[in-house]
Amino acid sequence: MDTIKKTSATGREPLNFDLLLFGATGDLAARKIMPALFERSRTQELHADCRFIGLARQALSSSEFTALIHSKVRPFLAEACSDEDWQLFVDRWHYVCVEQLNPAMHTVQSMVRSDAVRVAYLATPPSLFIQLVQGMADAQLISPSTRVVLEKPLGKDLYSAQAINVAVAQHVPESQIYRIDHYLGKESVQNLLALRFGNILFEPLWRREWVSDVQITLAEDLGLAGRAGYYDGVGALRDMVQNHLLQLLAIVAMEPPNTMSADAVRDEKLKVFKALKPMTPERVAACVVRGQYRAGAINTKTGSEPAVGYLDEGGVPAGSKTETFVAIKAEIDNWRWAGVPFFLRTGKRMATKSAEIMVRFKPLPTHILPLSQFSTGEPRHPNRLLIKLGPEEALEFSLMTKKPGDGMRLSSVGLGLDFDEVFTTRRMEAYERLLTDVVRGQLTLFTRADELEAAWRWIDPIVAAWDAQDEAPKPYAAGSWGPAAASGLMAKENLQWREEI
Ligand code: BG6
Repeated sequence: MDTIKKTSATGREPLNFDLLLFGATGDLAARKIMPALFERSRTQELHADCRFIGLARQALSSSEFTALIHSKVRPFLAEACSDEDWQLFVDRWHYVCVEQLNPAMHTVQSMVRSDAVRVAYLATPPSLFIQLVQGMADAQLISPSTRVVLEKPLGKDLYSAQAINVAVAQHVPESQIYRIDHYLGKESVQNLLALRFGNILFEPLWRREWVSDVQITLAEDLGLAGRAGYYDGVGALRDMVQNHLLQLLAIVAMEPPNTMSADAVRDEKLKVFKALKPMTPERVAACVVRGQYRAGAINTKTGSEPAVGYLDEGGVPAGSKTETFVAIKAEIDNWRWAGVPFFLRTGKRMATKSAEIMVRFKPLPTHILPLSQFSTGEPRHPNRLLIKLGPEEALEFSLMTKKPGDGMRLSSVGLGLDFDEVFTTRRMEAYERLLTDVVRGQLTLFTRADELEAAWRWIDPIVAAWDAQDEAPKPYAAGSWGPAAASGLMAKENLQWREEI
C-alpha cells in the first residue's frame, strides 16, 4: 500500500469509500465497473483505505473470486496492466456469498467502516433492487453517507419503475440515489452541454425557426454478445431508447438550466419528457419502426464476416418477436421545438458502431446563386452540425463555400474538431467518471425518479400498441442500416438519414 501517494495523479484528494458491489460476478461488473475501478486505482485516485466487497450468489473463496476477476476483468482493461497495479487492485477486494441475504448483510456490516462514504452498487437485475435495499436497511447498512447506485434498466415499464422508486425511497432519500445511465458519463455527451451552454453562437439558432430536424443514432455492429437471457426479455426500446436515446434527446432539447446543479438540470430534462407528444396507437403505427436482424455480413478489421440472424443466436427462444432495432419520429410540443421532428434510431448488428447527433438547419429561403452553378447538385440543407459521440469523438459543421476557380461553384465543406487531435490527455471512461461523481456526491449526471418515470410514461404506449398489433418486427440484414421502413419514416418528411445523404 505504500505505493499510494497522498494526492492522486490529478492532484485531487484520493477517493475514500467502501464499495458494496452486488452482482460482482456478472457481466457488467467485469466489462465496465471493475475496469473503471481498476483505472482509478492505477492512476492512484483511490485512498489506501478503500475497500471493495463483491457480493453474488456463487459460493467462492477469496482466492477463487480473485481468480475469477482475473480471467473476466483483465480482457476489458483499457491499458496494459502491470502485475504491480493488478495486485494493488485485487488486494482491495473481499468476497461475500449471498446465499441468504440477512446473514450476508450482517457479515458486510462487520467489514465496512462506519465513518466512510459507502457506495452500494446494485449491478443486478432490477427485480432484485427492492429486496436488496430492504436487506441493507435491516442490517443498518444505510446511513446518511450511503449512496445507492441503481443500474439500468430500472424496471420494465412505468408500473415496475414506480414500485422500485417507492420501495427504495422508504429507506434511502432521493439525494442518496444514483440512477446510472452511462451515456451521461461519456465525455462527448458532456461536451454537448459545453457546446450548447459554453458558446453564444448556437443558442439563437437552436429552435424551430432555424432547425429543420434532429437525428440521433446509436448504432451497434455487435449482436447479442452472449446476452440473450437479458436482451430477449427487454428489446431495443427498453434497452436503449427509454434511457440513452431519451437522455440525449433531453440534453439536445432542454432549455438552458439556471445552474449546472443536479436539480436545475433534471428539472429542465423533465420538462422535455413532459412535452413529448404522446404515442397514441395511430402515432405508433405511423411514426415507429421496429426491426429484427436476419443473417447477413458485418464489417470487421480484416474484411467482412457472416453473421447469423437474431432467431439463430444462442439462447433466443424460437419465434421471438423481440425488436433489435427501433426508429421513431418523436415530436416535442413546446414553444421552442413544435413542428421539428426528432428522429431517434438504435439497433444491434447495424452497418457500423456509431453514436451521433445531427442537427440539420433549414433550407435557404431563396437561391441567389443559380442552381446550375452548384458543383454537386443543390444541397437542400446547406448547414448541419454533426456531433459524433463515439467511437470517434468529433464535431463537424458543414458550410457552403465557393470552389476556387472560374465562376461561382459551391461545395459543402466541413469545419471539423477532432477531440483526439485537440486533447491528447486520456479521457475517462463513462463508468470511471460516474463512479467518481457518486463518491463525491455529485448527482447532476444521474437521473431523478420523476424524470425516469416520465420517460417510461412515453415508452409504455409504444409497447402497448405493439402488443395490440401483434405483428412481427420488420426484418433487416445484419450489417445494414435497418429495415427499409426506417428510410420510409424519413422519406415521408422529404428527409434522409445521414448515411443516405
Ligand atoms: C447498454 C445496453 O446500456 O449500452 C447494451 O444494455 C449496449 O445493449 C450498450 O450494447 C451500448 O453502450 P456503448 O457505450 O457501447 O455505446
